[in-house]
Amino acid sequence: MTERDASQVPEGAPAAPGAADRHVPVLLDRCLELLAPALSADGAVMVDCTLGMGGHTEAVLRRFPAVRVIGLDRDTQALELAGERLAPFGDRFTGVHAVYDEIRDVLAELGVPAAQGVLMDLGVSSLQLDEVERGFSYAKDAPLDMRMDTTSGPTAADVLATYDERELARVLRTYGEERFAPRIARAIVRERATSPLSRTGELVDLVRRSIPAAARQTGGHPAKRTFQALRIEVNRELEALENALPEAIEALAVGGRIVVEAYQSLEDRMVKQAFAQGASVSAPPDLPVVPETHQPYLRLVTRGAEEADAAELARNPRSQSVRLRAAERLRPTPDHLRTTRRAA
Ligand SMILES: C[S@@+](CC[C@H](N)C(=O)[O-])C[C@H]1O[C@@H](n2cnc3c(N)ncnc32)[C@H](O)[C@@H]1O
Repeated sequence: MTERDASQVPEGAPAAPGAADRHVPVLLDRCLELLAPALSADGAVMVDCTLGMGGHTEAVLRRFPAVRVIGLDRDTQALELAGERLAPFGDRFTGVHAVYDEIRDVLAELGVPAAQGVLMDLGVSSLQLDEVERGFSYAKDAPLDMRMDTTSGPTAADVLATYDERELARVLRTYGEERFAPRIARAIVRERATSPLSRTGELVDLVRRSIPAAARQTGGHPAKRTFQALRIEVNRELEALENALPEAIEALAVGGRIVVEAYQSLEDRMVKQAFAQGASVSAPPDLPVVPETHQPYLRLVTRGAEEADAAELARNPRSQSVRLRAAERLRPTPDHLRTTRRAA
């Protein structure tokens, strides 16, 4: 984790060309509305766990002039671009290179005891999808990379070269809901015996050849599910989220609010469960009086998951699959329910 303070950017530095145009923030007004009651206090701090192009953060900094935002991203390119965009806000913005399950370590290092707001806008940014050389897209030929953090960890090519057939099939089925996972996994293992898969174009061709002709006509691009699955595996997205949700809730001050936007059902289910646990009484149902230590520590602020309406969809096609949930902290988490990965 390394800190990047926007105030280090030279004064008058030009805004990154098109930084604001590279990604349209999803459900922006709704996020601001949900965070508002928690961010109106003097000295409020919001952690944007998925800074991306800084769209949500910029709107928060403009709407709430007393708020400080700490923006995390594992992608150094995103931090660079967002840092330039947010430089005019000086020390009200601090960008940090970190995986979001490190949220409490980041706050501790910055000497911030708790956050009044936490925002998580999950998944990839349009920047990552549009930068061909990052290898996230099946539409253009590029090296099979797919790492959000290009400074460390195995690439998609490494996964395809080293996982055995069963593991490959599991990844494709679980994270991509790919019906033809075993056929594709078998084809990968057969292909790599003669030449390693190193380009997105090679993988697209292989998936096309592995899927029956009739199935190629339906369900969008035939390689879409395989690419999604590999991206989730390469970046360990579900493991990171599983660790991050309790960490992010623990980072919240009493009265603080957390808003999460998920774009895929496995992620949304994790968010739903983490919030439901906090919003439930943890005492056995037959206790006549619920002790304070077993009262809910969260209150659900949204009813179920909110989706994009027609106007948002027309403005921003990325909002198609969004599921937004929000919760407010009512009291500290009772000791018997703390499941965070490390002490603050
Ligand atoms: C959908 S984009 C966020 C866009 C942002 N809200 C905006 O308005 O520009 C998601 C960002 O989160 C980052 N990200 C995804 N998983 C992460 C993780 N586990 N830890 C830190 N950053 C992560 C990605 O690199 C990407 O830049």
